[in-house]
Amino acid sequence: MCGIVGYIGHREAYPIILKGLKRLEYRGYDSAGIALYDGENIKLSKTKGKVDDLEKRINSEISTVGTLGIGHTRWATHGVPNDINSHPHYSNSGDLVIIHNGIIENYGTLKKELINRGYSFTSETDTEVLINLIEDIKKSENIKLGQAVQIALTQVVGAYAIAVFDKNKPNEIVVARLGSPLAIGIGDDEFFIASDASPFIEYTNNAIYLEDEEMAIVRRGKEIKVRKIKDDSLVNPYVQKLQLNLEQIEKGGYEHFMLKEIYEQPNAIKDTYRGRLLTDKAIIKMSGVEDNMKKFLNANRIIVVACGTSWHAGLVSEYIFENLARIPVEVEYASEFRYRNPVINENDIVIAISQSGETADTLAAIKLAKSKGAFVFGVCNVVGSSIARETHAGAYTHAGPEIGVASTKAFTTQITVLSLIALRLARAKGTISSSDFRHHLIELEMIPDKVEKALKSDDYVKSIAEIYKGTKNFLYLGRGYNFPVALEGALKLKEISYIHAEGYPAAEMKHGPIALIDENMPIVVIATKNGQYDKVVSNIQEIKSRKGKIIGIVTKGDQIVKELADHVIEVPETLESLSPLLTTIPLQLLSYHIAVMLDRNVDQPRNLAKSVTVE
Ligand code: M6R
Repeated sequence: MCGIVGYIGHREAYPIILKGLKRLEYRGYDSAGIALYDGENIKLSKTKGKVDDLEKRINSEISTVGTLGIGHTRWATHGVPNDINSHPHYSNSGDLVIIHNGIIENYGTLKKELINRGYSFTSETDTEVLINLIEDIKKSENIKLGQAVQIALTQVVGAYAIAVFDKNKPNEIVVARLGSPLAIGIGDDEFFIASDASPFIEYTNNAIYLEDEEMAIVRRGKEIKVRKIKDDSLVNPYVQKLQLNLEQIEKGGYEHFMLKEIYEQPNAIKDTYRGRLLTDKAIIKMSGVEDNMKKFLNANRIIVVACGTSWHAGLVSEYIFENLARIPVEVEYASEFRYRNPVINENDIVIAISQSGETADTLAAIKLAKSKGAFVFGVCNVVGSSIARETHAGAYTHAGPEIGVASTKAFTTQITVLSLIALRLARAKGTISSSDFRHHLIELEMIPDKVEKALKSDDYVKSIAEIYKGTKNFLYLGRGYNFPVALEGALKLKEISYIHAEGYPAAEMKHGPIALIDENMPIVVIATKNGQYDKVVSNIQEIKSRKGKIIGIVTKGDQIVKELADHVIEVPETLESLSPLLTTIPLQLLSYHIAVMLDRNVDQPRNLAKSVTVE
């Protein structure tokens, strides 16, 4: 987690870094800081709180002049969020300054050694240890900053994306990465450094993404040099043309990114299937699948690894793959899978799902699966992300940047990609008839319009939010394809409103959670027509007998649930396998409106960060 930004060139660095930090705040937002070189000295200002807090105090603390600088927005790992633990961190001499995203696991041992050598520490962070290790190596070996960084990084265990500069060499910034992302934007005689490309997209669309165990020295007005940290070999970096545009990373008139992203779903889903879903020809084209068709057809089973919302999309895919393509599926929390010694063999396919492509546990699960010989297929949103690069093949979701910490369009586009894969495999295996296949394609193509219709319930959902905003607990129930949607609805509510919510398979209710139900308990029940409708209706009856408040998510025109429920929110009819793409919409809106009414920080809920790059 944490966002890092740097600039070296001919412009004033401060406004670029400040704006960049605001764009990276989704990565962590418990403290922020900036260090600038003003022509003579390093000026540093940092604070607990958000980038806005930094902005308020920075002008009274330092001059913001300078064409070289680095900035950081933090998600605390080592040391509580406070001014002192905020980045950047100085070395003991005050000559060097660093920003860091990641964790140095052996910092305790290194710190002891440095204390024995006379170094002192003001913060509790691992980062201050790293910058002093660099300083110690630089001084004792009398070498340049780049070399000292390189040697220091061979001594650390952990993960990092760092940027360091030396006030005595104010024409260069040294950067390096292992396990945390780092992009370098290449402008005209200027360089931008950032955790992703959003801080520099209005200045350049040429970028280099450092690979793990690579470092670079970016020098004002010079060519960039990238090398391998371990063997010092020079690397010819690939300069990528970015597709990102400014509009995609701005709120565009919406109050929150989350709301914008909820409303982007019709287009995001279209972008996901564009060029892949060819309904008139009755084919699905996905190069990642075609190129590896033999492997998919020989697969004994699919193991899905993911975290959070992506794990919920994986659960939906379990139903889709098993029903359509008749391939057994297991869905695993990446964090559990990686520490289990799981049984994996060569005919297993591991599908890793991740919006950010940077989630540490998912990345580690992929590495483990690869080491056991499995073929690993990635479903990621962020192009060029670590997971996208670590997997053998994959399919991007093409949802566009998702900035709100609560995942919305990532979920629906992941389900779209997974549906396309399952359908393609079903066709290849002959487990679906051609008419059924065509029907699925037609229905999938109509999903964006139906999402649009589902979004029309927004005002009504808001009025329901008004009624239940003061509630302490919520229950979400669903069955089959919509059981994972119930889990996802509960997660959305928890993470942005801080209201406790549980998702459950509807039939499991009577094995425990039913004891919670009384007249104060709102229960969101997904009861669409094509699922196990009658069974869910029985579950609704059971709730009603215990006086629970029922919010039904139903297929348009439903009468039965309407009679029983306190409120019903309609979604258009579709195939059961595609229904999660519609039923999830009112649940996203419900959690959004409740959170807004409770005055929560919707886009940046407490204690969370968008990419969880620590385990
Ligand atoms: O980037 P990823 O999809 O790998 O992230 C996984 C989870 O951290 C993420 O889905 C998280 O649960 C979201 N905040 C949920 O809204």
